[in-house]
Amino acid sequence: MTPLCRRLGIDLPVLAFSHCRDVVAAVSRAGGLGVLGAASMTPEDLDRDLTWLDRECAGRPYGVDLLFPAKSAGDDPAELAGRIPADHRAFVDALRTRWGVPVRRSEPGHNRLGGMPTEIDHLMTHANAHALWEVARAHPIRLVASALGPPPAEVRAETTRRGMLLAGLVGDPRHVRHQLAAGVDVLVAQGYEAAGHTGDITTMVLVPQVVAAAGDVPVVAAGGIATGRQVVAALALGAQAVWTGSVWLATAESDLDPVVKEKIVAAAATDTEKTTSYTGKPTRQLTTVWTEAWRTPEAPAPLPSPVQQVLARDTVVSAFEHQVTPVMGSAAGQAVGLVTGVRSVAAVLDDLRMQMADAVEAVTRLADDAG
Ligand SMILES: Cc1cc2nc3c(=O)[nH]c(=O)nc-3n(C[C@H](O)[C@H](O)[C@H](O)COP(=O)(O)O)c2cc1C
Repeated sequence: MTPLCRRLGIDLPVLAFSHCRDVVAAVSRAGGLGVLGAASMTPEDLDRDLTWLDRECAGRPYGVDLLFPAKSAGDDPAELAGRIPADHRAFVDALRTRWGVPVRRSEPGHNRLGGMPTEIDHLMTHANAHALWEVARAHPIRLVASALGPPPAEVRAETTRRGMLLAGLVGDPRHVRHQLAAGVDVLVAQGYEAAGHTGDITTMVLVPQVVAAAGDVPVVAAGGIATGRQVVAALALGAQAVWTGSVWLATAESDLDPVVKEKIVAAAATDTEKTTSYTGKPTRQLTTVWTEAWRTPEAPAPLPSPVQQVLARDTVVSAFEHQVTPVMGSAAGQAVGLVTGVRSVAAVLDDLRMQMADAVEAVTRLADDAG
């Protein structure tokens, strides 16, 4: 049990990021900390899911992850759409025709289709982040995580008032001092292997650097972790827990579209790539015809965030609505190479516990032999 686990009130040093409330509740009930990825939700959906979690977690702690973008090209969807050059529109129109993606059925930004990676549909803007925070702060959340830059001062002040811990994600040791200046309680060091927005430094190299720069602030290791051996390795690197995402995508509880779950199970680590083609910021995603198309010589350069999101979302959402399978993907990390089947959250956690115990025993034996 690490000091951070004690502060969080968990007995397994595993934090689990998921967009799916069922996964979050299952992890928290089993002794870890489920963290709801809220950035893609509408405020109404978030309130509904948090009310459900307040009940279903049965007093066990849970967290919420919000994106407070340090840089954003604007807030107004119509104005952002007006910034898309004609060449970019023509490129995407040609792709839609080639792949047979019909016009989308739903309104942008207001549909949480089961299993659709809605982060593409709800724009990553300051206005949206603040609307979500207004909803989240009223719930008994144990940990609030801020991705894409240090949390705003009013979020720091409010989490302190409400006794919530505040975590900041970093992908580079140079970002640590900004997060510390913003007053975070926990640093999540997220390596290159990870799903979603990710930097260029691998977890193995990043974690010890962040631990060294963090002083007394506890560090959680993220990126590529899907087995108990890796949890033990992360603790050996100085982390006090791990933060996981990809390993939950293909769980039985996850509401990810079954087509994409199958892709996750079949994928090797090399079937993911860093791409700016979804949001305009570099995120690690499953390779699909969409990501491949944006790598071809005829592709224009992806637009800045969130203009690229406005350009991409109708095609990507429609592909889910109409099950155009080659276009369907998800944010996913290299850890998909360690996911070999659809299993329940409890089964994944049982394996993690067993593997952790085996790894500790094996390393202790080695150390005893050496000493
Ligand atoms: C589908 C998906 C969407 C993600 N979206 C976000 C997000 O909105 N905010 C965030 O902080 N991290 C996001 N992440 C990254 C996770 O928080 C986590 O850092 C990452 O998954 C850890 O690495 P792993 O995927 O190798 O386990 C996402 C991850 C996945 C799998």
